[in-house]
Amino acid sequence: MQTILVTGGCGFIGAHTIVDLIENGFNVISVDNLSRASDNSLLGIEKITGKKIKNYRVNLTDKEATELIFKENPDITGIIHFAAFKAVGESVEKPLDYYENNLFSLVYLLQMAVKYKVVHFIFSSSCTVYGNPEIIPVTEDTPLQTTASPYGATKQMGETIVRDTAFTYPLSTILLRYFNPVGAHPSNTIGELPIGRPQNLVPAITQTAIGKLPTMQVYGDDYDTRDGSCIRDYIHVCDIAHAHTLALQYSIKNKITNHCEVFNLGTGNGITVLEAIKAFEKVSGVKLNYQIGPRRPGDIVSIYANNNHAIQQLGWSIQYSLEDMMRTAWEWEKSIAIK
Ligand code: WQD
Repeated sequence: MQTILVTGGCGFIGAHTIVDLIENGFNVISVDNLSRASDNSLLGIEKITGKKIKNYRVNLTDKEATELIFKENPDITGIIHFAAFKAVGESVEKPLDYYENNLFSLVYLLQMAVKYKVVHFIFSSSCTVYGNPEIIPVTEDTPLQTTASPYGATKQMGETIVRDTAFTYPLSTILLRYFNPVGAHPSNTIGELPIGRPQNLVPAITQTAIGKLPTMQVYGDDYDTRDGSCIRDYIHVCDIAHAHTLALQYSIKNKITNHCEVFNLGTGNGITVLEAIKAFEKVSGVKLNYQIGPRRPGDIVSIYANNNHAIQQLGWSIQYSLEDMMRTAWEWEKSIAIK
């Protein structure tokens, strides 16, 4: 049984990926310093899988503490690296915190992978690396543009760091570019837990619908799109999670080293903000209280994925519809409201 180290294992995508890895026969260890997540996720994972996951409460910018994990677990054969700060607005306010946290942790983790001969390394990247693309849908070969935030820059730099490491050392690395992960596990035991006022669209919708927020704004309806609001590629977090398991299995099966490969993880469907709201209203039966507000600085007009590479190479397929995304997000919001 392969042992996989999942960093950021208590986070939204990390927890869903641990569930999928366990369901596919992997042994999993988590490292998460709980600065942006709660270890309640581990209780949810145990409830779904029956497995108790060990979490090392370690800050990955602490090199010595990070190395201890590898010393104690010599059987780690793969790493899936989620742990990073990811709030676009916060990254503009605190760029050095983002560069220190996101890049130092990545470099130390890769140094451990090389030293302890961990072959498989999967890096959590983002469609943010494309910046404001001229041609959509974007493929993995679409030229990257300057990103709109230090957060996006850490993802672009992170990809370069992983690629250069795989060029020199015998690692098999995979960069997964997520589009907009939303929704929650259908068991309703793990889901998104935004800290403070949610920045992202779907938690803003569900918190407004349940009354946690009095109202919400649609950031602009005067863009050059079919209804004036921005277009994104929303994808269910469980589809994202399963893509990680498939990527790991692909890497293990192909036994390729000194390798770096990129995959877009999106549905290939572009949905406007107003269409997302309508889908939520249809699924929940709740009339959403929102206003049209000014554009949000840094927002790109439209982006969605060409996901053929992941479908053909990884055997990936999209299991959850936009309605499923909204339904599971809403069920999750209602469940945490009564906790
Ligand atoms: C989506 C659309 C907003 C909130 C972010 C990160 C990106 C990636 C995915 C990590 C935009 C609009 C939002 C609201 C709104 N995350 N919106 N009212 O900005 O596409 O991407 O999540 O990798 O790195 O930047 O997602 O959900 O914030 O916004 O109108 O209250 O919803 O303007 O058009 P975004 P988002």
